[in-house]
Amino acid sequence: MIHNDTIDRQLNHRTIRAFKDEPLTKDELTTLYQVASQTPTSNFFQQFSIMHVTDPQVRAQIRDIAKQKYVGANGDLLIFIVDLYRNQQIRQQLGNNDGRLHTMDVFMQAVEDTTLAVQNVLVAAESMGLGGVILGSIKNDPVKLIKVLGLPKMTMPWLGLQLGHPDQEPQLKPRLPLDLVAFEDHYPKGFKLDQFKDYDSRVTQYYDLRDTNKRIDSFTHQINGAKLNDQMSQRDDINEALFNQGLAMG
Ligand SMILES: Cc1cc2nc3c(=O)[nH]c(=O)nc-3n(C[C@H](O)[C@H](O)[C@H](O)COP(=O)(O)O)c2cc1C
Repeated sequence: MIHNDTIDRQLNHRTIRAFKDEPLTKDELTTLYQVASQTPTSNFFQQFSIMHVTDPQVRAQIRDIAKQKYVGANGDLLIFIVDLYRNQQIRQQLGNNDGRLHTMDVFMQAVEDTTLAVQNVLVAAESMGLGGVILGSIKNDPVKLIKVLGLPKMTMPWLGLQLGHPDQEPQLKPRLPLDLVAFEDHYPKGFKLDQFKDYDSRVTQYYDLRDTNKRIDSFTHQINGAKLNDQMSQRDDINEALFNQGLAMG
């Protein structure tokens, strides 16, 4: 196993959800924006934007949507936006039509750009001694979120990233063993529950020993549980939101 500063920091990654009352400096924010913007980008389309949400009322509305009490409570809140609007404007002003901008393919490229930028910023933030949590929960009510953020068509708020100076020290969350996720040439079909036994007991131990929200839980139990059960929620409004925004239409 190779070790260097970058790898050791990545292997030590823990999501941070509580932050000290010490906002990011302008210099820190600008650095993180610069890192985001230098992230690899599919086709060089550069199809994402970032919104720094500082208005306490807007943060409270996002918290209501996310239904997680720490969202927008402290730390700096960045919303990463899948953004095809800017490129639509360019094409329109050059007298062209929208071409492939409304297709699922180009939308997915924008999703890829946006998601990579989020992770790149998180890694950079962690290297600066900061911590953060990626927030998919902002999309619990996508139609409402678009309104709250005042976004135009051809954009879609995708992930939140809340950053700050850590005010907690969570334990490292164990991941699946490599033989279940990394394969050589051949995909091993037919996973058996037995193969997850050791990992399940490591996860159970993690939940039992961690400082906050201790519980009895395992990986296979979570996969078999409520989060993936067949229940409709407002998260499923994503199709309606995408349609309204003119995105991913075929
Ligand atoms: C795309 C994505 C969305 C996530 N959304 C949330 C979220 O809405 N709320 C939250 O508390 N954590 C969220 N997380 C963080 C995960 O819960 C966390 O990464 C996972 O439990 C593993 O823990 P670790 O990051 O501390 O190793 C998200 C992570 C990813 C990659």
